[in-house]
Amino acid sequence: MDTQGLHVVVGAGGVTGRLVVGHLLAAGCRVRALTRDGRAVGSPAAELRAVDASDPVALTEAAEGAVALHHCAMPPIGRWLSDFPPLTDSIIDAASATGARVVYADDTWMYGRVSGPMTPELPSRPVGRLGVLRAWLAERLSHAAAAGRIRLSIVRAGELYGPHVRSMIAGTVFGNVHRGRAARWFGDPDLPITPTYVDDFARTIAAVGQHDGESGRIWHVPHPRPTTGRELIALAAAQAGHRARVTATTRWQLRALGAVLPLAREGAELIYQFEQPFIVDGSATTEVFGLTATPYAEGVRAVLASHSG
Ligand SMILES: NC(=O)c1ccc[n+]([C@@H]2O[C@H](COP(=O)([O-])OP(=O)(O)OC[C@H]3O[C@@H](n4cnc5c(N)ncnc54)[C@H](OP(=O)(O)O)[C@@H]3O)[C@@H](O)[C@H]2O)c1
Repeated sequence: MDTQGLHVVVGAGGVTGRLVVGHLLAAGCRVRALTRDGRAVGSPAAELRAVDASDPVALTEAAEGAVALHHCAMPPIGRWLSDFPPLTDSIIDAASATGARVVYADDTWMYGRVSGPMTPELPSRPVGRLGVLRAWLAERLSHAAAAGRIRLSIVRAGELYGPHVRSMIAGTVFGNVHRGRAARWFGDPDLPITPTYVDDFARTIAAVGQHDGESGRIWHVPHPRPTTGRELIALAAAQAGHRARVTATTRWQLRALGAVLPLAREGAELIYQFEQPFIVDGSATTEVFGLTATPYAEGVRAVLASHSG
């Protein structure tokens, strides 16, 4: 494979996309960073383009000559059902027209209720509308790959944490700990969990985009050994110099909050992940690409530093 060719990153202004751009440039690739407003993405060597990726004609033009099209874009969560399908279809069309491999930044919501580690071989058994949508998007991409329309790599991460990340374990955990307040944990803080450090997600996307020789394969981001919410909060509190305090929020409390807060409604649908072990097994990615995970102590230090900055 031509690993040094042109890589196009869609959603390059997002938290994951910006880091993917950086890793690809560091590996010696040429990178075109697409955002809707053409803004800078923190890597001066990247070529910048303003493109609405839902427009297949504009996207095809922007992807001309690319070896890979990294799909790191996502609409605001309240618009997922209306906006994510046409966005993903447009990426399929552009990849099909240009021959670029699609590298899709995915989550694990399609797996639904599980009792053990999540491996890439698990079937999709989503819980709730958003999980069904994610299962359908992955299926749509996989179908295009199986039909020979595109070459595809899917990269799946668990719940993200890291500087500037928005997730169910971001602001209410690390932001609160940083301010010396009780961390709010959704679900059971004593279950095993493998939060994904956002830079590990980006490194995996960049490596897979350069080196995956197969099509249609699902890669899980490598993780450290499982921790728990309580352990993670204790680690963050020790680093911040505060006493660790945890307030657990149950699904019933989230549901009640959902009557007034739309985001809590989405949270109530997703809290099942924290009522079961949430372990993402990325060992196959380590075996094939040699990628390893950032230790939690290091990731937490970076998040707390971003809250101080
Ligand atoms: N957060 C998590 O815990 C988590 C966990 C696992 C997987 N993931 C997945 O990883 C992917 C990236 O997530 P993220 O947290 O990095 O997202 P993010 O920071 O919200 O960035 C998403 C970017 O997509 C862009 N975008 C939306 N619609 C677009 C369009 N039509 N054309 C071009 N760009 C568009 C947005 O641009 P604007 O700035 O113009 O709005 C935004 O910069 C998503 O699929 C997400 O579901 C996230």
